Amino acid sequence: MRTTASFVRILIVAIFVYFFLDFIGTSGETSIFLENPIMWLAYGIIVLFYIAGEVCIEAIKSVLYKTLSPEAQARYDAQETEAKENQFKWIKEKYKKSLGSKGIEEEHEIILDHNYDGIKELDNNLPPWWVYMFYGTIIFAVVYLVRFEVFNDYTQAEEYETAVAEAKVEIEEWKKTAKDLVDVNTVTLLTDASDLNAGKAIFEANCIACHKSDGGGGIGPNLTDTYWILGGGIKNVFHTISEGGRDGKGMISWKSDLKPLEMAQVASYVLNFQGTTPAEPKEAEGEIWVDPDAPTDTQEATPEIVNDSTAVKLTMN
Ligand code: HEC
Repeated sequence: MRTTASFVRILIVAIFVYFFLDFIGTSGETSIFLENPIMWLAYGIIVLFYIAGEVCIEAIKSVLYKTLSPEAQARYDAQETEAKENQFKWIKEKYKKSLGSKGIEEEHEIILDHNYDGIKELDNNLPPWWVYMFYGTIIFAVVYLVRFEVFNDYTQAEEYETAVAEAKVEIEEWKKTAKDLVDVNTVTLLTDASDLNAGKAIFEANCIACHKSDGGGGIGPNLTDTYWILGGGIKNVFHTISEGGRDGKGMISWKSDLKPLEMAQVASYVLNFQGTTPAEPKEAEGEIWVDPDAPTDTQEATPEIVNDSTAVKLTMN
């Protein structure tokens, strides 16, 4: 148990078991150790069992040793010390070779014939690891030169552009999974039934006192017509819900009560009222909202639309 070899064995087994469990147990991207922290316990038990095994074998060995005759013990000891000396022999030799230096006995072969006040110089070989790295840099330089200076594979500017493009795609992917990060600039009309049902629940819980459950209006304006006081379209409606209406009118800011995703859901639900006929519609207020993004019938009209669709109509106060 007290030999270096057994420590190395335990370490190797521990690493192997870790990767083995990780390999057979992991589904998807996260490691099994993150998914079920209990796996750490299983891992610990397996490694402990292995250590126990090593201890047992060592204990049996020492018991057997006691049963040997003194000569046999001496022979065994001699064998052991020899084995210990040869341990890691291969690694030690490789290491020595990788230094490329000469032993002290051979130094006379490489001593340079100058002598400054007793200070002499040895002409040692460069260590092979250094030399090979140096060759590596030469090969790298040739490949690099041919690839980028002769064949002009790609420039740094192009590399930057592709990296940015890739990052943008990744951000888009990520945003799909992080719906809660919507804000007034990124919000889009949600059309999934689950989102609209969630929006409906939020609307019934918070908004019907003033807007009626069919959006017909009461204290608040009619939400079913095309007239909007604060601007229609998902971005303006989201903005109204998030920031509230004009001072003193009664429409408060909901951003401290509702999460961004919830505001997007209820805004999408509100826009679904468009075109429906409520039981008691309140008379229209505000102006007809024309979506500047909507496709126009006449070609000539298009260039005139310079409205920034991401800008929010600021009609407060
Ligand atoms: C206390 C009453 C009240 C409640 C509750 C209320 N609103 Fe309003 N809402 C109003 C009033 C009043 C206005 C008009 C604001 C103005 O004129 O500036 C308004 C305006 C709006 C508008 C803009 C209408 C337009 O014509 O531009 C939207 C959209 C809206 N509310 C959605 C909601 C949603 C969604 C909820 C629930 C989360 C809600 N409101 C809760 C009173 C209310």
